[in-house]
Amino acid sequence: MAAPTCGRSSRLHAVLAAVLFLVVARPSLAESPIKTVVVVVMENRSFDHMLGWMKRLNPEIDGVTGDEWNPTNASDPSAGRVYFGEGAEYVDPDPGHSFQEIRQQIFGSDDATGPAKMDGFVQQARSLGPNMTDAVMNGFSPDSVAVYRELVEEFAVFDRWFASVPSSTQPNRLFVHSGTSGGATSNNPVLLAEGYSQRTIFDNVHDAGQSFGVYFQDVPAVLFYRNLRKLKYLTKFHPFHNAFRDHASRGALPNYAVVEQHYMDSKAHPANDDHPSHDVFQGQMLVKEVYETLRSSPQWNQTLMLVTYDEHGGFFDHVPTPVAGVPSPDGIVGPPPYNFSFDRLGVRVPTIMISPWINKGTGQLSPFVHYYHWLA
Ligand SMILES: *[C@@H]1O[C@H](CO)[C@@H](O)[C@H](O)[C@H]1NC(C)=O
Ligand SMILES: *[C@@H]1O[C@H](CO)[C@@H](O)[C@H](O)[C@H]1NC(C)=O
Ligand SMILES: *[C@@H]1O[C@H](CO)[C@@H](O)[C@H](O)[C@H]1NC(C)=O
Ligand SMILES: *[C@@H]1O[C@H](CO)[C@@H](O)[C@H](O)[C@H]1NC(C)=O
Ligand SMILES: *[C@@H]1O[C@H](CO)[C@@H](O)[C@H](O)[C@H]1NC(C)=O
Repeated sequence: MAAPTCGRSSRLHAVLAAVLFLVVARPSLAESPIKTVVVVVMENRSFDHMLGWMKRLNPEIDGVTGDEWNPTNASDPSAGRVYFGEGAEYVDPDPGHSFQEIRQQIFGSDDATGPAKMDGFVQQARSLGPNMTDAVMNGFSPDSVAVYRELVEEFAVFDRWFASVPSSTQPNRLFVHSGTSGGATSNNPVLLAEGYSQRTIFDNVHDAGQSFGVYFQDVPAVLFYRNLRKLKYLTKFHPFHNAFRDHASRGALPNYAVVEQHYMDSKAHPANDDHPSHDVFQGQMLVKEVYETLRSSPQWNQTLMLVTYDEHGGFFDHVPTPVAGVPSPDGIVGPPPYNFSFDRLGVRVPTIMISPWINKGTGQLSPFVHYYHWLA
């Protein structure tokens, strides 16, 4: 029952790129049993929102008990409390998750110099509308995210994995495969269209003579890295629906595989607009499909799958975000008005690591995770 937990605060998405590179490409670690790393980056959910109630399955997980609360007004403790519940809906209104909204969630005000009290979620939600508090202050019961329930029982949950930037989707997605957002602190359509110029894990893997593949459903988000638009990488892109299962069944998955979701769900398939509850349900189905595909592949015994989230999407989390001692990846300072120096992290996000090399319930992670510890 008890899945091992792994506590460590660090800029983990940044570290991820380095770790995965070590595992798949560094010759001195050639004895590692892991030859294929498969990464799925989901969207906009905090740890407590998705996995907080999994503490019931394994008390070692730093999740929730129902005693967690936020004041309705962070500057007036007598104004009332909202406790964290387990009534999350498959689809909620979209809570605030811009740089300034997240700052208020973490610090309870616009002053980012204090400790991370994680007491501004309700206040911030209330400023957006009457229904937002319910969305932000509820998590899923284990049974309502049954795919995660199974994976949490069998494999490893990270309960100290924070978004790399206390801001929105794209800066965090950029961090995942390159360890920096190149200074981005918001979704900037012009710069995304031009492409960010930093070196990526894909370049590292390729230059080390290893293979990578991107299995996409819509336009792949990794094309926001300018390097990935190089002609030499054209053959690395595969439609998820035909190629992933086919490659896996033939034992032909690359060393580093990224599965990209169907981001434009509502636009490409208007039917989903009428059933917005498909959001989380479909995410569960995607994770299940990737997992089942890998498990029946001849490569399964050398595979590690990682499911993580880009950012917390505005949903409550009780674990204080690290706000001190966080090194900038490259010294680049973000644009005005915040001039953010990448010296604090975002809110905690769910991360599950899946591999036959992770021992169930022993508290011992695979050698892979020791590399991770050593680096972090
Ligand atoms: C994985 O399974 C294959 C086929 O059964 C076997 O040849 C290989 O040695 C196994 N690898 C590891 C790391 O166990
Ligand atoms: C929160 O409390 C402070 C201090 O009492 C007060 O000045 C402020 O107006 C309150 N904010 C809201 C939104 O009620
Ligand atoms: C708030 O919730 C009520 C009841 O579920 C619903 O009728 C209403 O449309 C919602 N309002 C907004 C702004 O989402
Ligand atoms: C995630 O955030 C982006 C903006 O950063 C927003 O467009 C999208 O609707 C959000 N997705 C969900 C599932 O809340
Ligand atoms: C941010 O940097 C700009 C120059 O790029 C400067 O004009 C502005 O005063 C800075 N803002 C803060 C809050 O430091």
